[in-house]
Amino acid sequence: MPKTHTITLIPGDGIGPEVTDAVVRILEATGVHFTWERFAAGAGAYEKHKEYIPKELVHSIERNRVALKGPVTTPVGGGFASINVTLRKKFELYSNFRPIKNLPGLETRYPGVDLIIVRENTEGLYVGLEHEVVPGVIESLKVITEKASTRIAKWAFAYAQKHSRKKIHAIHKANIMKMSDGLFLRCARDVAKHYPEVTYAEHIIDNTCMQLVMNPYQYDMLLLENLYGDIVSDLCAAFVGGLGLVPGANIGDHAAIFEAVHGSAPDIAGKDIANPTALLQSAILMLRHLDEAGAADRVQTALEKTYAAKKSLTRDVGGTAGTSAFADAVVQALQTQ
Ligand code: NAI
Repeated sequence: MPKTHTITLIPGDGIGPEVTDAVVRILEATGVHFTWERFAAGAGAYEKHKEYIPKELVHSIERNRVALKGPVTTPVGGGFASINVTLRKKFELYSNFRPIKNLPGLETRYPGVDLIIVRENTEGLYVGLEHEVVPGVIESLKVITEKASTRIAKWAFAYAQKHSRKKIHAIHKANIMKMSDGLFLRCARDVAKHYPEVTYAEHIIDNTCMQLVMNPYQYDMLLLENLYGDIVSDLCAAFVGGLGLVPGANIGDHAAIFEAVHGSAPDIAGKDIANPTALLQSAILMLRHLDEAGAADRVQTALEKTYAAKKSLTRDVGGTAGTSAFADAVVQALQTQ
């Protein structure tokens, strides 16, 4: 009997349901057996359950330990706390893993990029500790701990060793934030000593942004605290065609949530024009995590064939096809392998 994988599915807001439907259809065409436990989160969940993250959703992730998630809208400057940040903290998904790689046949600003971003996912300025000291003065706390900094550095170096990556740059602003970013660097340096086969270097964040745009090929893996990682991963997405393409995974010791780097894109929601590739590439990472390497390779090949054929691409990458027509093409490429 083939194994059935039970996955928590959060379609999300905006373009989330469209790209999730497309990806679920492609995954089901692989022949791998899935049971999906679907949940709303955020504003949609609040309307139904009076909770932004329903208890059933939390229990489902606790049971299944793997979730596939579409983007969830977060109100700006008020309202409820980010669902993403909350889930990452709740399940200690400390490693945010974002591979940036070109798809064959797709012309982009930079060809041949192959870069891994490892972002600390639980602390830094994203702990959400803000308060008004006196009217007109807000304090926002940046929390960096030895425990979390060492944990993410170990994850990054272990990944480099396992996947034969050559170099890790720790990215920081320790010239100004001498204590917090200073601690992050000290932890990275200590871990680096145990991995002599991986070259370790440090770059300041502002210089890194300039260096990335001038010559992204000088980097192999970037290790960053939370905020720098968030910003730099959007920047790097542009190297390979934009936010519609780049996958992501939030990984902890007990659970993992796979989601695209992009947000809910309200400007294009409900029009069948969003590109599901980013979530599909996240789902390929999920298949590998589930030990379904064969299916992961087949979906990757089908995706690459669809891009190489250039006939069924979405608008953000220069095509005219809709979300569902793109998914049809990938399913067809899967079935003709
Ligand atoms: P966004 O990533 O939603 O959109 C930025 C630009 O990229 C827009 O022009 C959009 O049309 C385009 N884009 C994004 N994904 C695309 C796709 N798959 N195909 C084609 N074009 C795509 O960023 P924005 O507008 O800053 O955020 C919108 C909402 O999403 C906010 O509420 C934000 O908090 C939330 N968000 C959620 C995330 C998550 O759930 N992981 C991550 C980032 C933002």
